[in-house]
Formats: sequence, C-alpha cells, structure tokens
Amino acid sequence: MSDSPDSDSPDSPDSKVDVDTLARELAELSPRRILRRAFELFDLEDIAISFSGAEDVLLIELACDVLGDRKPRVFSLDTGRLHPQTYQFMAKVERHYGLRIEYCFPEAAPVEALVRTKGLFSFYEDGHQECCGIRKVAPLRRQLSGLRAWITGQRRDQSPRTRGAVPVFERDLAFAGRDEGSLYKFNPLVSMGSDELWDTIRAFEVPYNALHERGMVSIGCEPCTRAVLPGEHERAGRWWWEAATKKECGLHVPDVADMPDMPDGPDA
Ligand code: ADX
Ligand code: SF4
Repeated sequence: MSDSPDSDSPDSPDSKVDVDTLARELAELSPRRILRRAFELFDLEDIAISFSGAEDVLLIELACDVLGDRKPRVFSLDTGRLHPQTYQFMAKVERHYGLRIEYCFPEAAPVEALVRTKGLFSFYEDGHQECCGIRKVAPLRRQLSGLRAWITGQRRDQSPRTRGAVPVFERDLAFAGRDEGSLYKFNPLVSMGSDELWDTIRAFEVPYNALHERGMVSIGCEPCTRAVLPGEHERAGRWWWEAATKKECGLHVPDVADMPDMPDGPDA
C-alpha cells in the first residue's frame, strides 16, 4: 500500500476500508483506470498480476501503460502441464514488455505422490480438484502470502453461473496476504465482454497466445483444455468431462464442492 494518506486505503484488516464503497467507485471505471487506482492504493512490491498465459495479457498491456517506466509484478502458476504454445507466449510477453514473470511451481513431493499412485491423468477419473489443488492452488497460496493484493483477469461473461457476481474489487477471504494479513483482489476486466476484450487486444496489437487461433478460447493446462465449436460457451473447453458447476479449480472459488450440482450443459 502506498504511504500516502488515503482514507480509502486498505491498510490493515481492521482499517476503516470500506470494500463495498471502493468496489462501487471502481465499478464505474474503465479497466485502465481501475488499474491506475490499484497501483495508487498499493506499493508495486505489494501487488501483482496473476497471468494465465491467455487473454488476460490485456492486464499486462494496460498496467505497463499506466505505470510508464515502472513494471508491474506478474506471476504465473506453472503447473508443468501447460501447452508448449503457452510457454512460448509467456516468454514472448516477457520480451515484449521487458519484464520477468514470477513463475510459481508446485512442490515436488505431492506431485510425485499423486502421479506415482494415480498416474498422469487421474483427473479424467476422479476430477480435477486434487491435481489443481497441488499444481495450482498450493503454489498460489504461497505466492499470495508475499503480497497484499492481486489482480486477476476474471470476467463475468466467462461463466455467468460461477462468475456472474464477481465484483471488481473484493477482500479475498480464501487466501491470506503477507504476514497472514488481509489480501485484496482486483478484477479489472470483470465487466468486459469477450468481443470488447478481443477488439481491444487487436486494436492495441497486444501479443496473444497462438492457441487462440486454434479454437481455444479459455486456456488452461494442456490435458484439461480443448477447442470449442462456434457458438459453444468458452468454458465448455475446460474440464469438459465434468459438470459445469465443477469448472472452477480453487483459485477463485474456494470450495466448489459446496456449489449446488446442476445439470450439465452450456456453462451459461
Ligand atoms: S481457472 O480458475 O479456470 O483456471 P481462468 O483460466 O478462467 O481460471 O483464468 C481466470 C484468471 O485466473 C486469470 O485471468 C488469472 O488472473 C488467473 N489464473 C488462472 N490460471 C492461472 C495461472 N496458471 N497462473 C496465474 N494466474 C492464473
Ligand atoms: Fe491438473 Fe488439469 Fe488442474 Fe492442470 S487443469 S492442474 S493438469 S487437473
């Protein structure tokens, strides 16, 4: 958080920060201005963009634009199961924006234990939660424990069912920040529709993942992502063998098991 006095500043869990008020203020702003506000509220070392290697590259473009000569912290959860194109894209992003991505790796022991007992593709048999828990959620928890705020590329239209109510700014109750303190979460793209996002990426000639040219809209790990047909919802290409209510991996919805199980179908 910036040292400058700011009555809105979320300076401690017990501060007078009114998350709802700030969320209402930010909801009126463009993604660029939301990012500007985020970087006013938090020192650069305390806040980071969570980059999946997909269309959330727009966050990096806008953040670099807002920050000028300074660079945002950017981290990626390298599950070890990403597509080669995603790794190539991440390296391209580093070159294009002149920054280093903070890659976060899973602990070797639980990965070894999982694949030695259940094999490399256990998620097709008993669901993706266990593998995502080890390869994504645990490294995310570790990374967030060094931050006070994070910035995600979540959008409501990615999944009206599971993300339809995502606010632009929130206190993250699922994870703790530095020194076990409060953690805040900005979702600057939350109101952007897919068309608007892609128009912006093209208009500003933002680099993008080559997999988008191959029918992949929402991109995650290679074994758990596939292309969607025209007219199919983007998250139909993620964990397609599971019910629509299970298409969250714990980064944003802490306990998907608690969600009502709804019939399969378009995740809309
Ligand atoms: S997921 O929960 O289904 O995997 P999704 O792919 O929709 O998430 O991405 C939403 C946002 O979550 C991304 O814009 C990014 O902020 C964060 N995120 C997802 N995957 C990763 C990743 N591998 N590394 C860093 N951030 C990620
Ligand atoms: Fe494992 Fe698939 Fe989750 Fe990646 S998306 S961590 S491969 S279950």
